[in-house]
Amino acid sequence: MVIESVADEGRTFEPHAAFVQQARISSKEEYDALYKRSMDDPEGFWGELAAQELHWFKPWDKVLQWDEPTVQWFAGGQLNISYNCLDRHLTGARRHKAALVWEGEPGDSVTLTYAQLHHQVCLFANTLKKLGVEKGDRVAIYLPMIPEAAVAMLACARIGAVHSVVFGGFSAESLKGRLVDAGVKVVITADGGWRRGSIVPLKANVDKAVQGTAVESVLVVRRTAQKIDWHEERDYWWHELQQTVSAICPAEPMDSEDMLFILYTSGTTGKPKGVVHTTGGYNLYTHITSQWLFDLKDTDLYWCTADVGWITGHSYTVYGPLSNGATSFMYEGAPNFPDNGRFWQLIEKYGINILYTAPTAIRAFMKWGEDWPGRYDLSSLRLLGTVGEPINPEAWMWYSEVIGAGKGPTPAPIVDTWWMTETGGHMLATFPGAHTMRPGCAGLPFPGVEADVVDREGNPVPVGEGGYLVIKRPWPSMIRTVYGNPDRYRQNYWEQVPGVFFSGDGAVKGENGYFKVLGRVDDVLSVSGHRLGTMEIESALVSHPMVAEAAVVGKPDDIKGEAICAYVTLNEADQDQSQEELIQVLKKHVVAQIGAIARPDEIHFTEQLPKTRSGKIMRRLLRSIASGEEIAGDMSTLEDRSVLDKLRGS
Ligand code: WTA
Repeated sequence: MVIESVADEGRTFEPHAAFVQQARISSKEEYDALYKRSMDDPEGFWGELAAQELHWFKPWDKVLQWDEPTVQWFAGGQLNISYNCLDRHLTGARRHKAALVWEGEPGDSVTLTYAQLHHQVCLFANTLKKLGVEKGDRVAIYLPMIPEAAVAMLACARIGAVHSVVFGGFSAESLKGRLVDAGVKVVITADGGWRRGSIVPLKANVDKAVQGTAVESVLVVRRTAQKIDWHEERDYWWHELQQTVSAICPAEPMDSEDMLFILYTSGTTGKPKGVVHTTGGYNLYTHITSQWLFDLKDTDLYWCTADVGWITGHSYTVYGPLSNGATSFMYEGAPNFPDNGRFWQLIEKYGINILYTAPTAIRAFMKWGEDWPGRYDLSSLRLLGTVGEPINPEAWMWYSEVIGAGKGPTPAPIVDTWWMTETGGHMLATFPGAHTMRPGCAGLPFPGVEADVVDREGNPVPVGEGGYLVIKRPWPSMIRTVYGNPDRYRQNYWEQVPGVFFSGDGAVKGENGYFKVLGRVDDVLSVSGHRLGTMEIESALVSHPMVAEAAVVGKPDDIKGEAICAYVTLNEADQDQSQEELIQVLKKHVVAQIGAIARPDEIHFTEQLPKTRSGKIMRRLLRSIASGEEIAGDMSTLEDRSVLDKLRGS
C-alpha cells in the first residue's frame, strides 16, 4: 500500500490543572526522565519496577535475554499472575474491596470483592484439576461477558494451564479451528449469553466444534437457563462440580517465561495465528501501563468495554487492573439495548470514573445523537481512553466535549492508546497528566518502547512522512511466538523489515515526536475495531461450492472504519439463483464460517478478477473501485484491462 504523508493537524489540548495535580505521572519532564532511564538502562528500569510492583516466589537471574527473535524477561524468576491479581490484595485494606462489578444485559448484577473473587477462582481451579487439567494443558474459554470469564482465566493462570479465550461471536467453525490448533483439552462455555435481547447459542456451537477434536470435557456455566443438548460423558455443570471440590488452591509457582495464554488473531494468511504470551513480562507490563495511563486510583471504578475475547479485555479488563487492586467493571451486552443510552445509564448508575472504549463505538454514539448521553449524569467520569483504530479528530472532539468535558468538576483527558494483540500492552499513548493531547495522534512511546517510522529496508523516514511503524527493541509483554509455528513468528514480525518488530501499521512521526497511526498496510482489515484478514474471508467464501474465486478488500465506512467488500467469481454450473439470493447465501456462509463480525457488507459478482500476468489478484485496484476512487498507479502488470471496466459497472 502506498502511504502518503500527512500534515500535522495542529490542534492541541492540555489536561486540566486539577487533573494534573493528582495524576501519577504529572509532567512532561517526569515522563521524559522515565523514558530516558528506560532507554539508557532498560534492565535497571524494568528490574526495579518488577521488584517494586509484583510479588515473586523466586527472584530472576537476568532481567533481559535477547537473542533475536527469542526473548526472555526475568528468566529464572517465579511468580503467578493470579497470585498478583488476587492473593496479595487479601492481606490489607483491599480484602473486601470490589474487584469486579458486573451488570448483565437483562439488568441483573454481581459484585465480587477480592476475597470473593479469590474464593471463586480457587474453586474453579480445583474444578479444572478434577477434570484432569494439568500445568501446560490448553483450556479454551468461550463465554459471554460474565464474571465467570474472568474467573476462568484467573483459574487457568493459577494452576499453570494455558487459556485460549475465543470471542463468543465466533462461529462453531472458527472455534473448532482454534481448538484443533492449540490441542485444547477442556472447553469452558455457558448455556448461552444475552445479546440485544436474544440468547447467543454458545453451547450449541461448542457441541458442533468439539467433534473430531482432542477435547475431553466441556464445563458449562449456567447463565440463561435455556434448554441445551447434553452429553453425559463429556459435559459438566460448573455449579454442580464446584460443590465437590475444595476452596483451597495455592497458586502454582510459574517460571517467568511459562506460557500464560494463546490468543488467536487475524493476519495476512487464511488462518488466524495463535499469539503466545508468557507470564512475568506480561504481568509487569500490563500492570504498569494500567497504572500510569489510566491513572488508576483505589477509589476508581474503571470500565474497559472490550470483550475478554480480545486482547484489550485480557490486558485491561482482567489482568492489568486486578494486578493493581483496582475495581474493574464488566457489562455483558450490547450498547444499544434496551436503548441507545445503555452505556451512559451504566455510568450514571454505578458512578464509573474511567471509560476505555473504541472509536467505532464513539462514532456510533455520535450518530445516535447527544440526546442520549444528555439524559444521564456523567459527572463521575474523570478519564477517557480509546483503542482499536485511529480515532478521527471529529470523534475525538465529540468524545471530549459531549462525554468528557465540563460534566464533572474536572474535564476528562483523553488517552489514546496504540497497541496490538502481539504487543500485549499499550505501546504509544498520551499520558493523561503529562502530555499535550493531539486529536488523531496516538501519542508518544511508553517507557521502554523504542518506536520508529521506517522504510522497507529499515531506514528512518524523514519527520512528517509516512512509513512503517516498527519497534526497535524487545519490551516485556511482546509476543513470544506463534503457537506451533515459530517460522511464521520470525517471518511475520522480525523479517519484514530486517531486525525490528514489524507492526503492520503505517504511521507518521511529527516534529514533536508524536506518532500518528494511519492504519494497516497489509491485507488486514479493521472492521468496527476488529481485526480481520482479507484472506480469511476469501477462504471462507471459496469454501462455498458455488464460488470459484474471491477477493476481499476494505472500503471506508463512517461508523465501522472499514466495510467488507467482496468480489466473487462463480462456478458456471451454479448460476441459476437470483443475484440477491446468492448474495444472501454467501453472506450467511461467511457468518457460519467465521462469525457475524466477518459478514460482507457488499458482494459483487464478476466474471474475472483483476490479476497480474503472474496470476496475483491486484487488490489495490479493487480497493479503488470499491471506494469509487480514480484508479491510479502502475497498471502495466495487469493482465486484462477490460476487467476493470466490467468491475466498475458491477
Ligand atoms: C489498530 C487491539 C490507531 C492498529 C489493541 C493495530 C490502532 C490493530 C489503535 C491491532 C490506535 C489499535 N490508533 N490504530 N489507538 N489501537 N489500532 O490486535 O491497526 O485487535 O495494528 O489489538 O488495531 O488490533 P488488535
